[in-house]
Amino acid sequence: MAHEPSAPRRSTPETIDAGDGAATIGPMPRKALITGITGQDGSYLAELLLQKGYEVHGLIRRSSSFTTGRIDHLYHDPHESGVRLFLHYADLTDPTSLYSHLHSVKPEEVYNLGAQSHVKVSFEVPEFTADSVGMGTLRLLEAIRTADWPIRFYQAGSSEMYGSAPPPQDESTSFQPRSPYAIAKVFAHWMTIQYRDAYGLHASNGILFNHESPRRGGTFVTRKVTRGIAAILAGAEDHLYMGNLAARRDWGFAPEYVEAMWRMLQQDAPDDYVIATGEMHSVQELIDVAFGLVGLDPAKHIRIDERYFRPTEVDELCGDASKARDKLGWQPRVTFHDLVRLMLEADLREAGIDPASVMSGGTAGAGNSGPTGAAEEPTTAGA
Ligand code: NAP
Ligand code: GDD
Repeated sequence: MAHEPSAPRRSTPETIDAGDGAATIGPMPRKALITGITGQDGSYLAELLLQKGYEVHGLIRRSSSFTTGRIDHLYHDPHESGVRLFLHYADLTDPTSLYSHLHSVKPEEVYNLGAQSHVKVSFEVPEFTADSVGMGTLRLLEAIRTADWPIRFYQAGSSEMYGSAPPPQDESTSFQPRSPYAIAKVFAHWMTIQYRDAYGLHASNGILFNHESPRRGGTFVTRKVTRGIAAILAGAEDHLYMGNLAARRDWGFAPEYVEAMWRMLQQDAPDDYVIATGEMHSVQELIDVAFGLVGLDPAKHIRIDERYFRPTEVDELCGDASKARDKLGWQPRVTFHDLVRLMLEADLREAGIDPASVMSGGTAGAGNSGPTGAAEEPTTAGA
């Protein structure tokens, strides 16, 4: 599709091109289908697979506004040669759309990343969450079961499934989920194992602990804090309203986590893997580190608002990713402090502030401050 010269670059379910033309040379590229390609992980995974020479097909939802901000940088006019990124309208709540695109694309690998992924929001829209996260996975597995070519399937499982099970959590830890979101993910996890055992599908579960980046949605706690600081320094806000500061999480860097997804599907046999850093920090520590980097006193800017508390909370998550290290050769590299720094730098730049002018101890320089597409933290809803 030709774009108007003055229009913003937007990818649509027309053919779009990854740009390097690699697909036009040599053998047919491997094909991957990604649900949730417009999300944080979907965008990094699409990038990774395109770099590896795949033809990538993403399923996107129709929306009244553009949702492709995180993948627009992959766009090239389809009239150029070497098109390797294609988008199709579908929805995990619409089985026909999943079935028809799976059968027309005929991918060798399917990555199921699509989800209503916000834990707090899942208490407000429990049915939609169960439908997209739980039933959506089942619908995709059913479509795959009818395929007459081999498909490798990745299910985006979550450390939220562990819920109140004490850390460290690994593949043998029992699930004790504490939200509609987590319960739907447990359903999807076991359904993936069921299809593996019953029908011999190459279906793997990643059990990923929290992973963040400059492309993280604005209502998740890390991004809310780094964006909030940028807004305070820009003079747009004075205060940041937060929920439970005592919760502790194992935060890693998203681009490293999508690499683990790909590695799971390159194994001869399907399996389940925890992906985590093995380090745990509280939300209060996150705030202290981020505010400290720009010399602000959090006590002057943080306010507690009950609306950001969850009806049931997950207190502590910390993963043991030894199996992924031993079998996939996967290890995290970006530390918690690097992560906070690179996210803060990206948000400062987005707010028009030179990080070097306000940050102590130099800049990380590792941040991918590509398109974020993140929404504002809603002021009327408690996310
Ligand atoms: P995200 O940024 O919230 O992206 C979610 C994606 O799912 C978006 O592309 C969204 O499309 C799509 N989606 C939502 N409802 C859908 C539906 N009904 N049908 C089709 N697509 C739908 O999430 P993320 O952080 O990239 O996470 C990716 C996956 O990993 C999710 O399944 C999440 O639950 C899981 N996970 C994430 C983490 C983490 O820390 N990030 C940890 C463990 C597991 P729109 O753009 O149209 O909304
Ligand atoms: N979002 C948010 N906003 N969280 C807050 C706030 C706030 O103002 N204040 C405190 N928190 C606490 C939450 O109560 C939670 O304990 C912690 O910060 C992390 O919240 P989120 O960043 O929203 O992430 P999450 O841990 O609930 O869920 C994320 O990670 C899961 C993996 O463990 C999501 O990405 C899920 O999709 C993912 O499965």
